[in-house]
Amino acid sequence: MDIFGSSQPAKVLVVDDHPFSRMMAVDLLHSDGYEVIETDGNVDILETISVNSPDLILLDVKMPDYNGFELCSNLKQDQQTQNIPIILMTVSDDNQSRLKSQEVHADGFLSKPLERMLLLPEVQLLVQRKRLYEWLEQMQQVLFLIAQAIEKRYSQEGSSCARVDQLAQAFGEYLNLNPVEINDLILAAHLHDIGTVVIPDAILLKKGELTPNERELIKQHVFIGEQICRPLQNRQGIPQIIRHHHERWDGSGYPDGLIGNEIPWLAQVFQIIDIYDALTSKRPYKKALNTQNALEIMTEEAQKGWRNPDLVKKFASFIQQQEQQ
Ligand SMILES: [Fe+2]
Repeated sequence: MDIFGSSQPAKVLVVDDHPFSRMMAVDLLHSDGYEVIETDGNVDILETISVNSPDLILLDVKMPDYNGFELCSNLKQDQQTQNIPIILMTVSDDNQSRLKSQEVHADGFLSKPLERMLLLPEVQLLVQRKRLYEWLEQMQQVLFLIAQAIEKRYSQEGSSCARVDQLAQAFGEYLNLNPVEINDLILAAHLHDIGTVVIPDAILLKKGELTPNERELIKQHVFIGEQICRPLQNRQGIPQIIRHHHERWDGSGYPDGLIGNEIPWLAQVFQIIDIYDALTSKRPYKKALNTQNALEIMTEEAQKGWRNPDLVKKFASFIQQQEQQ
């Protein structure tokens, strides 16, 4: 069993039309405990990948029916296969080929004949990296499910994940955000209130007016959420959105009372998405508003000074454009 809990040997697909070098790769990989599938490339490689789901592909660059560079480039652009590490192999170990392998986003480049000392450490590293990413994705799912369970405490229906994801994706693209920023928005949509986990039901679900102390306790959810999500390495946009998702443009929000563009840009964008989603979603205590009414309320809030007025205008244009499509 590896450190990520997988007891299955990693599966490597070797694609090489040359029988001797293919046999050599297969022997080396077998000797190190890998399950190996081999093909001379005279088959539908996409079908072979889809059927076998390899953990890594060792791909010859020059084959009669395939150009390895082209195939690698296609696999890296396909969502189904882009996470499978690919090591390209060639007899011509020149700078041009190495450069080309980087252009097509190959994960490794080895010259033939393969050397044990170079092949096996590289395969091990790439397989472990793939399993780490898979494990992190599973952990992310666990975190989402916890966040959903927490949200159900105060909202029976919660919001539709697919709907919020779609809205964050489309509005992020409309604002020309980069893919990492868009992904941060999507993840924050699921995680922003995870900090309410520490607030007792008696306060979170209280029907009457909250006391000042209770209000202060509820405000703590942004700090707790920020702390929970801080270990998300390389995704520091998310804890930042969580901390600042209750700030207001005029400084009357919490926790830091930031004013205007002191509020991080992604937190401003996230607020707009979150508010629109809440207004247009059905809740046990309210009906879903239509687009027009939701935009009117958001415009009123911008006029009160709570939101970035330009951003609310942009959002209204974006929604109108979406409605026309
Ligand atoms: Fe919140």
